[in-house]
Amino acid sequence: MENRDNFRSRIGVLLALAGSAIGLGNLWRFPYLLGTNGGAAFIIIYLFFVFIICLPIMFSEFTIGRRSGANAFGAYKILAPKSKWGIVGILAVLTPTLVVSFYSVVGGWTIDYMVKAAMSRFSMGSEGLGTLFSDTISSPVEPIIYMLVFLALSCLVVAAGVEKGIEKYTKIMMPALFIMIIVIAVRSVTLKGAGAGLSFLFNPDFSKVTGQTFLDALGQAFFSLSLGCGTIITYASYVAKKESIVGLSSQTAIADTTFALLAGVAIMPAVFAFGISPSQGPGLVFVTLPYIFSQIPFGNVLGVIFFFVLFIAAITSAISLIEVLVAYLKEEFGFSRLAAVAVSFFGVGTVAVLCSLSQGDMVRIELFGKNLFDLLDYTSSNILMPVGGLCAVIFAGWVLKKPEISDELTSGGTVKLKKTAIEVIFFLIRYVSPIAVIAIMLGAWL
Ligand code: PHE
Repeated sequence: MENRDNFRSRIGVLLALAGSAIGLGNLWRFPYLLGTNGGAAFIIIYLFFVFIICLPIMFSEFTIGRRSGANAFGAYKILAPKSKWGIVGILAVLTPTLVVSFYSVVGGWTIDYMVKAAMSRFSMGSEGLGTLFSDTISSPVEPIIYMLVFLALSCLVVAAGVEKGIEKYTKIMMPALFIMIIVIAVRSVTLKGAGAGLSFLFNPDFSKVTGQTFLDALGQAFFSLSLGCGTIITYASYVAKKESIVGLSSQTAIADTTFALLAGVAIMPAVFAFGISPSQGPGLVFVTLPYIFSQIPFGNVLGVIFFFVLFIAAITSAISLIEVLVAYLKEEFGFSRLAAVAVSFFGVGTVAVLCSLSQGDMVRIELFGKNLFDLLDYTSSNILMPVGGLCAVIFAGWVLKKPEISDELTSGGTVKLKKTAIEVIFFLIRYVSPIAVIAIMLGAWL
């Protein structure tokens, strides 16, 4: 496995990790879930899940990736040779393939809406915008072309390599993303009537909290932190041994959570200022916001910026998903990076085309009343990702030895961590995270 790619700088690693974590999950999923789950109350539960349940899972995936120095499939094989854990490795490559297929379709919509905003296509009232959205996504040609553009751009970055592609571009895109979301948030909170949105975000209303709120919060934490998907394992395999796993993971989680809150501040005050219901699902971003942009001065410019933000956030996540496949094809089958990217493009592109067509009448693949797009979205975030993350945390806690974990957490003794801190992390990895995830999943499925 000589000549493996690597990240060059610590800030490069951090921005690539943050780029993977920050995505459509923060910008449309999080605000919508807030909308249906009582605002601030949901935020409190979400924060708890991110830092108590999910962060230990991130430590685990990081440890598996860096210790093995291999792709997500190879990692389990290397760390536990001749065991059944290879099956989990297969899952760690299958899940990102499915996720990136429907993710690219939504990525295509973001480009489509950027173009629509630039052409001032939003002045048609909220009903018209609802129709525009459903016509756009169910059309047999337009969304496929945009999806292919999105996927091709993501593949180009991956083809350039870890350092010269992923690291280089995320380092430019992530700071730009933060600046743009702050611009939009400032515009949103200065709208007349924005106060109601802010109080919705920051005054908890626990009466809206149900069992479902807990499930939604956990699923969102998994999705948003890119867990259970082979992504953290793969990126960690390119990280130098001297970097701190605890530091990088915590900073990624903090950046991701800060961005989600900024997205809430950018979206909710505007939604409330225009008297719109906050619980719109995907429409919140693609129907409600265009309506708002059509009502305010310079709305078109803001619309272009907003959908560009969505696009950048989505592409840095898609890159991290494609890299899982590319690393796998390279290391397990000896493909060159370019060949691996080409195979990934055609494989993912094919599933994504079917996904996009399933939104219209062209492809009727239905299971449990869901079309292919909804099915992939649902199964990957509610089943495959939590199962993948659960396997990783069980693997780290019960298959790897405690000295191995502590060796990784302290980077071979160079990162100073108190003994009690290591004990607490180990306890969270062994007991708290797996039990919590199992309990919440059983609660959802039974
Ligand atoms: N975390 C990304 C988001 O919030 C999605 C993602 C999931 C990316 C899994 C990589 C792996 O949009």
